[in-house]
Amino acid sequence: MKNKQSIKLQLINKLIKKHKYRSYLEIGVRKGKTFYQVKARRKVGVDPAYKCKFQMTSDKFFKQNKDTFDIIFIEGNRQGDIPYRDIQSSLKILNKDGAIIVRGANQPKNWFYNKKLKIPRWKETVWMAASKIRLESNCLIATIKEENGLSIIKNEKSGDYICFPVERMTKERFLAHRKELLNLISWKDACREISRPDGSL
Ligand SMILES: C[S@@+](CC[C@H](N)C(=O)[O-])C[C@H]1O[C@@H](n2cnc3c(N)ncnc32)[C@H](O)[C@@H]1O
Repeated sequence: MKNKQSIKLQLINKLIKKHKYRSYLEIGVRKGKTFYQVKARRKVGVDPAYKCKFQMTSDKFFKQNKDTFDIIFIEGNRQGDIPYRDIQSSLKILNKDGAIIVRGANQPKNWFYNKKLKIPRWKETVWMAASKIRLESNCLIATIKEENGLSIIKNEKSGDYICFPVERMTKERFLAHRKELLNLISWKDACREISRPDGSL
């Protein structure tokens, strides 16, 4: 049976095709399950624990990097300030009309309260990073609900500014307002939007 492609891979390739993106950066490549199937002309991978062009942490990579990219997929370390820093650093090297995709902001509600997990989930902060970026810079963001959240971030101003104090971003507030904060959409709606020539994605 043919392996079904993940939504993240389909999303990346759909955006590349629509916007004629040429350059791709992946933060957290692991064995390259996504990386090797991405259809971009120039591809760069970063991972401290697996063989790839830049075998180092994202922080080290961004410090020495001088390149810019059309599309950046972030699926590296999800703890502490790292997801937020990865998005901020990516915004600085994103080409005009480019897109960043970050995985992991839309975990199910019980995930936030599950005490049995090996890594305490409050240490994973993609949900906070995506919300902060939206609130602070009012970037355009849309999050595909599936696969624990695939947030598409663009360096454009979003029309629907939401007023919400960033410093009070607790998980309780996030859970109460996640739909507006992440601008949640289904994969089906995202596909429809990407297929419209003047769509926002
Ligand atoms: C969930 S896996 C990535 C999966 C991959 N993107 C794919 O689609 O198959 C997360 C990866 O992030 C890497 N990682 C951990 N800390 C990192 C860091 N500080 N910078 C970049 N990558 C990191 C891990 O080594 C691991 O391979």
